[in-house]
Amino acid sequence: MLKDAHDRIIRDLRVSLTDRCNFRCFYCLPNGEPPLARKDTILTFEEIETICGIFVDLGIEKIRLTGGEPLIRKDVEKLVEKLSAHKPKLKDLALTTNGHTLPERAKKLKRLGLDRVTISLDSLKPGNFKDITGVDKLDDVLKAIDAAKEAGLEPVKINAVVVRGRNDDEVVDFAEFARENDVSVRFIEFMPLDSGHEWKREMVVPGREIRDKINEVFPIRLKRKSRGVETAWNYEFEDSSTGEIGIIAPVTEMFCGACSRIRLTADGQIRTCLFSNSEHNLRDVIRSGASREDIVDFIKAVVLKKEASHHINDSEFVQPSRTMSFIGG
Ligand code: 5AD
Ligand code: SF4
Repeated sequence: MLKDAHDRIIRDLRVSLTDRCNFRCFYCLPNGEPPLARKDTILTFEEIETICGIFVDLGIEKIRLTGGEPLIRKDVEKLVEKLSAHKPKLKDLALTTNGHTLPERAKKLKRLGLDRVTISLDSLKPGNFKDITGVDKLDDVLKAIDAAKEAGLEPVKINAVVVRGRNDDEVVDFAEFARENDVSVRFIEFMPLDSGHEWKREMVVPGREIRDKINEVFPIRLKRKSRGVETAWNYEFEDSSTGEIGIIAPVTEMFCGACSRIRLTADGQIRTCLFSNSEHNLRDVIRSGASREDIVDFIKAVVLKKEASHHINDSEFVQPSRTMSFIGG
C-alpha cells in the first residue's frame, strides 16, 4: 500500500497522455500549444503500462487518463485494453476528455475496458462556449455526451469550471441540464493553473454560492454526510429527479486532508500535488534500466514527499510553472 507522511493512502493515479489539446480554454491553455515536450521525452504506451502495473500492485485502485486532450494520442484504445487487464485489482478506469472524437470511439473504448468518462463543458450557449474554449464546438460536445451515455460509459460526469463574469450566470441552466440528461454536473472552482496567468481571486465563484443558487430553483440535498476521498460534495435533487450536482471547491473549501491522488505527467514526472513546485523524474529511472524493485522504492520515496496541502490561500502562494494541460486534471 502507498501511504504518505500524513497518513493518507494513495489509491488514485492520474496519467496525462499528452500536454497538447485542440481546445483553447482560457482557464487552462489559452495561448496555443505549449512548448512541445520533445517527442522522445513523452512516455511510450509500453512505459505507461509498466508504470501503471507497478502502481496497481502498490494499491492504486483508480486510474484516470487525462491530458491535455488524451484522445489526441493515437491508439488510446490499445492502452485502455492493456490497462484493463489489471482489473479487478484496478477497480476504476476513467478518462477525462473535451469530447473530441468521442462519438466515433465511445463504444470501442467501453468494450476494451474503459469504465467511464468525464467530459468538460463550461457553457450551454454556443457563443459563450466559443469565448471560453476558443472553438465553436458546443454541438460536438453535446453529441459526445450522448455517445458516452449510449456506450454505457456511465456515470457520465460533466466538468464545468465556473468563473466570475464568464459563466456564473449559467449555473442554474447546468442544473437543469443535469436533470434532463441524467448526468452528474460537477462545478469546479477556478484554480491558479492557467497558462495565461490570468487567475485572480475575484474570479473564483465559491462553491457555496453555486450550491445556494441551484438550491433556490431546484432544491438539492447532500448525498452523503462525509465525502471520504472524494473531492466533490455530491448532491441529489429533492424531487427525486434524475441527475446529480457535484461541487468541487479546492480554493474556498480545501480538501487536501482527504487527498488520495498522485499524478504522472506525459513526460514521465511524478507530481505529488497539483500545486507541487517540484517533480520526480520517473522517466529517467525507467529508462536507466532500473529493476522493478528500484522503481517501487523510488515511487514509495516520492509518495512520502507528498505535501500536506496546497497554499493557494497563503499570501506568498506561487503558481506552479506547469499548467493543468501538463499536469492532468
Ligand atoms: N481550474 C479548475 N479546473 C481546471 N481544469 C483545467 N484547468 C483548470 C483550472 N485552472 C479542469 C477542466 C477539465 C479538467 C481536466 O481540469 O475542467 O475538465
Ligand atoms: Fe491533493 Fe494537492 Fe489537490 Fe490538495 S491541492 S487535494 S494535496 S492534489
